[in-house]
Amino acid sequence: MKYFTTTSKASRRAVDCVIVGVYTRSRLGVGAEDVDAASKGEITKRIKSGDVSASIGHCEILTNVPGIKADRVAVVGLGKSGKLTATGFKKAVTAAAQAITRTKAKSVLNCLTLEPVDSSSAYYLARHTAESVNDVLYRFTQMKSGRKKKGSPLSSVGLAIAKRGDAAKAMRGAEHGEGIATGVSLARELGNLPANVCTPSYLARTAKKLATGKGKLTTKVLSEAEMKRLGMGSLLSVSAGSAEPAKLIVMQYKGAGSDQPVVLVGKGVTFDTGGISLKPGPAMDEMKFDMCGAAGVIGTMAAVAKMKLPINLTVVVPAVENMPSSTATKPGDIVKSMSGQTIEVLNTDAEGRLILCDALTYSRRFKPAAIIDVATLTGACVVALGAHRTGIMSNSEELREEIFAAGETAEDRGWPLPLGEEYAAQLKSNFADMANIGGPGGGAVTAGCFLGKFTDGLNWAHLDIAGTAWKSGAKKGASGRPVPMLSQVLLARCGVLP
Ligand code: BES
Ligand code: MN
Ligand code: ZN
Repeated sequence: MKYFTTTSKASRRAVDCVIVGVYTRSRLGVGAEDVDAASKGEITKRIKSGDVSASIGHCEILTNVPGIKADRVAVVGLGKSGKLTATGFKKAVTAAAQAITRTKAKSVLNCLTLEPVDSSSAYYLARHTAESVNDVLYRFTQMKSGRKKKGSPLSSVGLAIAKRGDAAKAMRGAEHGEGIATGVSLARELGNLPANVCTPSYLARTAKKLATGKGKLTTKVLSEAEMKRLGMGSLLSVSAGSAEPAKLIVMQYKGAGSDQPVVLVGKGVTFDTGGISLKPGPAMDEMKFDMCGAAGVIGTMAAVAKMKLPINLTVVVPAVENMPSSTATKPGDIVKSMSGQTIEVLNTDAEGRLILCDALTYSRRFKPAAIIDVATLTGACVVALGAHRTGIMSNSEELREEIFAAGETAEDRGWPLPLGEEYAAQLKSNFADMANIGGPGGGAVTAGCFLGKFTDGLNWAHLDIAGTAWKSGAKKGASGRPVPMLSQVLLARCGVLP
């Protein structure tokens, strides 16, 4: 996507479509005001006739509007005047993009960036425009045969700015939005691929491809034999029943010399049958999304590399397939983790933590400034927070707050969940150092506590994305979350102000 900024009026720019907004009680946004004046009241007329709505999420495309240079005018609802939030702004841009991509428009000018939105800057509104437009344009077509439907030809997005001085900020915002969108699209693509294509080896190949040609980014992949030598008995116990070999993917981006890196660890279970503790049939196909933690951290790496951020970032992905077979781990089996701690596997469906614990122990060698693991870890987190917010757990209040704030800024929200001794006690085992499940209560938290036993002394946080990584139902598909949240954590660490 190409971006440009302009101070010219909505009515004066010859694009295929201009986006303007209207508020309730017939109040017009900046762009709508101008189009209304140039067209001798077209917008006001349509408000009166009820053809355009001020509700956020509504969009009407007007053609043949007299007195203006653009072929079309997309009029979107912005709700109550003076009350537009960043969330509302994003919804409005998304609605406009959805309507516009049903037309043949190649170029648009977004005039909504002229509206007062909370305390949002030109950078921020440009970035969210880029992120929203890309999200709407995304289609998963790889696996469809036959003649593919042509997508929208949209290739140029203009950002209206109030003054010349905002141009550089808006362009920076668009650039960062484009970077984040690259990561989101990659995460969605990896998530949406079926498990017979997206295997641990496929994830490893994808990570390797990202590294070629980009000097600052390197990828290495550890084999099962190497993991065995490192003592990763817990990780390997999960892939024991699968014909697909496990991989440990390590990506390193060096944008800041010898600084300690931020390490992101992503759960890469390319399919989770539950193993011998087999899952029930309904919706089991959705367990192809059980590698969305991996997709999220690889996507974030792609975003950071594209934005060329001055930061050191390391991504570690334990990638496995969880299958039942005669070689699979059985309930009651005891495995030894890389940390030396032993684990009684009471349920082979609690496999995410078994691969993450070894990946976390491995990551100590990078002396992380902060380490964040990302996982579709528990159904209990979906019960607790639904599909709206990612669960955030941490042994550091500061890091938890940092991630929470980043989620708010990025419009990719999380919510804190506790950790603590009283929950950790639920993991007691009669036979090993710990069990891999903690009973029926507080499942998201006991999973976090399990990981906490491997992160002593680290500045660590755990994100449970079981509810947010994909959508079910008619809109089934990977969301690309938490790439925006994690990208924002890293942008903020680079001192980029929203
Ligand atoms: N991948 C699942 C978690 C999950 C389930 C995510 C449903 C999204 C939707 C994970 O490996 C799992 O099976 N967890 C178990 C843990 C339990 C056995 C302690 C769960 O949540 O039921
Ligand atoms: Mn499972
Ligand atoms: Zn799982």
